[in-house]
Amino acid sequence: MAERETWATRLGFILAAVGSAVGLGNLWQFPFKTSAEGGAAFVFVYLIAAFLIGLPAILGEFVIGRRANINAVEAFDRLKHPAWTVVGAIGLLTGLWILSYYSVVGGWVIRFIVDSATGAYFTDPGGHFGDVSMGWAAIGLHGLFMATTAVIVAFGVEKGIEKATRLMVPSILVMLVGLAVYAFTLDGSGPAYGYYLSPDFDYLANNFGSIVPFAVSQAFFSLSLGMGAMITYASYLGDDDSLPADGSLIVVLNTAVGLLAGLVVIPLLFVQFGSVPDVAAGGGPDALFVGVSQVFADLGLAGRVFGVAFFGVVLIAALSSAISLLEVATSYVVDNYGYNRPVTAFGFAGAIFALGTLSAWNIAWLGWFDSLAYSVLLPVSVLLVVIFVGWVYGPEAVDEIKKGTDGGGTFATAWLWSIRTYVLAGVFVTLYLGVTDIYAAPPIPFL
Ligand code: PFF
Repeated sequence: MAERETWATRLGFILAAVGSAVGLGNLWQFPFKTSAEGGAAFVFVYLIAAFLIGLPAILGEFVIGRRANINAVEAFDRLKHPAWTVVGAIGLLTGLWILSYYSVVGGWVIRFIVDSATGAYFTDPGGHFGDVSMGWAAIGLHGLFMATTAVIVAFGVEKGIEKATRLMVPSILVMLVGLAVYAFTLDGSGPAYGYYLSPDFDYLANNFGSIVPFAVSQAFFSLSLGMGAMITYASYLGDDDSLPADGSLIVVLNTAVGLLAGLVVIPLLFVQFGSVPDVAAGGGPDALFVGVSQVFADLGLAGRVFGVAFFGVVLIAALSSAISLLEVATSYVVDNYGYNRPVTAFGFAGAIFALGTLSAWNIAWLGWFDSLAYSVLLPVSVLLVVIFVGWVYGPEAVDEIKKGTDGGGTFATAWLWSIRTYVLAGVFVTLYLGVTDIYAAPPIPFL
């Protein structure tokens, strides 16, 4: 077998992992889930989940990946627990499921780049999204997004993924800060900050059962957990890297981007609607698009330039996440069956494209795919990883965490304790509440 590729530099790994983490989950989903789930109470649970559950869990995936040095499915076999390869397979399938509708949203982003350039939505920024989000054009752009993802994955780790993510993080941060400051100066944005940043604990207590599963799964989604992505990326990592240092940096950067996106979108919705509109009226999957397109329309010619730049960066963020999902499946087939990388990448992309046509045809399907991912697939997948790392692999995992750190023994022991106890309990409760939630109100898709 050919020698396995590795990251050219430590920075390469961090950027690629951040590239996987930072994406539509932060920019598109986080603001709209925040507005759909009541504002700051959701943000509060999300923050706790990202640091207290997400960070230990991401380290768990890093341990599996680096130790096994192979794709997410065979990793468990390599670690001498062949029965657990099913966990890798569940992750892989969860990732493909998510990618199917993620790519549809990626298609919308491409559409908004073009429509910013031409000013197509300037006369009716609020209504434009409804006109372009479903149907044949949406299917075509979903195909274009998937094909682009496949091209990058086909080039392999170093040439494709590392290069594609290098500029993305700084440019996203700059744009979001600029837009957040701009939103702050607009009339009517004032009340948004209380709504977004000051949690109403009574509201949280009364809506615990729906806020918790969405907020915790949002942390998983956003950190690319439970889909084999972080296992796969860590498998290209050398032993001299400190997993806790890399993991913490990734969680901090990822959370910062999500919070900033909220600071852009929520105030812009308040400016336009006086409050956050309900899900059907602009506070749903369209929140990002409706929020920012009004601003670009108001700015006239300059808005065209800013619009192209903004959606351009969102597209890069979306692509660098999508490639990590496609990479999970591709690297499995390439490692295991020795298939040609480009053919494999395009084969998977074709299958995912076909599945995603449902979501591109009708947004109700997209909502259904998304609910199932949040309420069931992500928590199941993360729960199994946590059980494996904590209780099955345990002591060896501690050794792996210590590698590349100075000492690090106390941290590693505390980490194992957390994974075995409250992290496991937290993910279990999330799954329980998610299943109860979806069972009480099964979302019914239609054509
Ligand atoms: N974390 C990405 C985001 O927040 O957009 C989405 C994602 C990418 C999820 C890769 C899962 C994954 F494996």
